[in-house]
Amino acid sequence: MIKTSSLSKTFPGGIEAVRGVDLAVEAGEIVGFLGPNGAGKTTTMRMLTTLLRPSGGTATVAGHDLLADPEGVRRRIGYVSQAGGLSPVNPVGEELELHAMLYGMRPAQARERVREVLGDLALTGLQTRPGGALSGGQRRRFDLAFGLVHGPALLFLDEPTTGLDPQSRADLWDHVRRLRAERGLTVFLTTHYLEEADALADRLLIIDHGVIVAEGTPAELKDGVGTLDDVFLSITGRSLREKTAGSLRGDSLRGETADVANGEG
Ligand SMILES: Nc1ncnc2c1ncn2[C@@H]1O[C@H](COP(=O)(O)OP(=O)(O)O)[C@@H](O)[C@H]1O
Ligand SMILES: [Mg+2]
Repeated sequence: MIKTSSLSKTFPGGIEAVRGVDLAVEAGEIVGFLGPNGAGKTTTMRMLTTLLRPSGGTATVAGHDLLADPEGVRRRIGYVSQAGGLSPVNPVGEELELHAMLYGMRPAQARERVREVLGDLALTGLQTRPGGALSGGQRRRFDLAFGLVHGPALLFLDEPTTGLDPQSRADLWDHVRRLRAERGLTVFLTTHYLEEADALADRLLIIDHGVIVAEGTPAELKDGVGTLDDVFLSITGRSLREKTAGSLRGDSLRGETADVANGEG
């Protein structure tokens, strides 16, 4: 569904935001693009959604060549930006219908499709409200509705739950999982929350300073961290030390004792 080769972006002033990214996303996958602030997540996503022209490299997105056929890409993808895009004053349902018509739907068809998407996202009944009269979680679900109303095969979500309370966050995760299960949607999302990546993604790509530094399922990546990390505990008293070491000698943990300095480290 997505395949890139040496994708890169250098901003004016020589800022190398993305430095040769190779990634692949299969149809039906939920892939998390994880990394700290400034790592290059949004820049990569803006290139893949045709909003930003790459400085180098190539990509195929939803069956279309990113550089040769950006319109073909745009027709088949949905994009929910980090900031969202609801009007604070217009009724969100009307905006959504307009959005559907911009993708070529007739008014009656647009109305029907909006009804369906609002049902999918538990937003029925809220369509007459302006964006400013919705809770954070409702607003984010409407942002999702904008990304989905034209029926894309591939959905891009840039930090979908940043700023939401834990309950709204878990609720949004449920919706994304269900959309994949029921509609066969492929989802590519960025996040800087490990917890979100773990809860939602089948597979993770970790980006730092514009390059992919790790890749795997959440479980694989967590295992990898386990074998790399040494944790040193300093415990006073021999019997307590022996007891703690004993309880650490499990399947995945290794407990070893070593006396430090005068034997009471
Ligand atoms: N329009 C721009 N002009 C110059 N530098 C930019 C621009 N957009 C992003 N950057 C820089 O590119 C790097 C990656 O940014 P971004 O892709 O937004 O990171 P992330 O989404 O992972 O937080 C950062 O150093 C950021 O300051
Ligand atoms: Mg970002």
